[in-house]
Amino acid sequence: MTVLHGPALNDAFNRACGNYDRLTALSPGYHRQLASAAALLGPAGATPRRILDLGCGTGASTLAVTTADPGAVVTAADASAGMLEHARAKPWPPRVEFVEARAEDLGRPPVQGPYDAVLAAYLLRNTADPDHVLDRIRQVLRPGGPLVVHDYTLRGRTVDRVLWNALCWGIVIPLGTVGAGGPRLYRHLRRSVLGFDTAHALAARIERAGFTDVRVHPATGWQAGVVHTLTAVRPPEHP
Ligand SMILES: C[S@@+](CC[C@H](N)C(=O)[O-])C[C@H]1O[C@@H](n2cnc3c(N)ncnc32)[C@H](O)[C@@H]1O
Repeated sequence: MTVLHGPALNDAFNRACGNYDRLTALSPGYHRQLASAAALLGPAGATPRRILDLGCGTGASTLAVTTADPGAVVTAADASAGMLEHARAKPWPPRVEFVEARAEDLGRPPVQGPYDAVLAAYLLRNTADPDHVLDRIRQVLRPGGPLVVHDYTLRGRTVDRVLWNALCWGIVIPLGTVGAGGPRLYRHLRRSVLGFDTAHALAARIERAGFTDVRVHPATGWQAGVVHTLTAVRPPEHP
């Protein structure tokens, strides 16, 4: 099952970026679920928190972060120049910065850290080496800081694969064909979810990467088997 990574995936996002917001607007619960995921980053601090929105795309997840914590200093990073162009064109509070960077390059400017919290929405599944990316995230997250991973991930039952295939073939891929670059990206979406970890396998992967307190939060309603948010913490450092 071929999925896209690296330059091929970047090219697909650059081609599809003009239609991305229209498609997510048609996806039931997309923005509500991002808002719930961002709320799991924890409460605003007494001093402004530095939050990394990794794989920010056109800024849907960034909006969720800035709504959950309006005082935060947010670095929104993405590998796709096209997606970033659409994100930057929206109105943002002054403490939000969009930067072109690959998740694999975390730890180097412009995504050096340390960050008080990290959100990665629909990102890890798209990376060629998610273990490496999780390792990088852990290194830029301050000890005790929360990581929130939100994505299409399956619960692991046959019925969830059937639902996911029906959603993709019946709605997502046909709608994706309307705009430039869409079919390739949305076929990738279907395959990458089927080929990636189930929610509990992803939790185990996050734990292996050195995080603790890993929890799986299924979406509500009929999407419970296909959308999950996972929370974890970088362990505090002991003297
Ligand atoms: C499905 S979009 C999600 C965007 C946004 N987080 C949201 O919730 O709407 C995934 C984004 O991850 C970015 N991405 C994929 N692989 C990446 C990588 N290795 N490093 C940085 N960004 C990457 C893509 O360019 C794309 O904008």
